[in-house]
Amino acid sequence: MAVRVATERDLPRVLEIERASFPNPWPEPLLRGHLGEGGFLVYEDDETGEVVGYIIAGLRIPSFFERLERRTRALVGLPVDPDGRRGHIMNFAVDPRRRGRGVGEALLREGLEYLRVLGAETAELEVRADNRAAIKLYEKHGFRVKERLPGYYGPGQDGLLMVKPLKPLKPESGPETGVLP
Ligand SMILES: CC(C)(COP(=O)(O)OP(=O)(O)OC[C@H]1O[C@@H](n2cnc3c(N)ncnc32)[C@H](O)[C@@H]1OP(=O)(O)O)[C@@H](O)C(=O)NCCC(=O)NCCS
Repeated sequence: MAVRVATERDLPRVLEIERASFPNPWPEPLLRGHLGEGGFLVYEDDETGEVVGYIIAGLRIPSFFERLERRTRALVGLPVDPDGRRGHIMNFAVDPRRRGRGVGEALLREGLEYLRVLGAETAELEVRADNRAAIKLYEKHGFRVKERLPGYYGPGQDGLLMVKPLKPLKPESGPETGVLP
């Protein structure tokens, strides 16, 4: 198996899988906009060289409203979550003909590893509340439901916000002083 960073040449296959996987697929320009990012990964079949799945992971940039909410909570003395680096799985799919053979797991592992390298303390994602296969996969990899998101995917189509804490790459070692104990 080969999980590698996506390139321009992978885009047609990614788009094909995207359209076969989601009722509201991302348009081509949105996928293209993530090219060049280290967290846009594809799984290439060793034997055929065909791309059979992809994942897009990156750091979540807090929205204006999230930052405003944090400031307001702090101002009125309400508890504010620690502002750790939050990783985000933005998109993720496997060719329907190649599902159930570990491709999704391999991509998820590499996507999470990339987020750890970026220093993310948590990984989060949104998933349709009725997407049993994906929810099972996420639970198997330590994600837990943090919140239900009513109507997130449209009227009557709820989402779930799932979160997983990420282990830091190395244990904290403290400042180096050069002084031997
Ligand atoms: C979710 C998805 C990426 C999984 O990819 P995959 O290659 O089929 O997954 P894997 O073969 O690596 O499966 C690993 C684990 O996922 C879970 N899983 C996968 N398919 C499942 C199914 N049909 N039913 C229940 N659990 C399933 C299981 O926990 C499985 O582990 P196990 O084999 O030990 O039981 C794939 O189903 C997909 O592309 N779905 C459509 C797009 C999508 O929903 N993306 C996620 C958006 S949030």
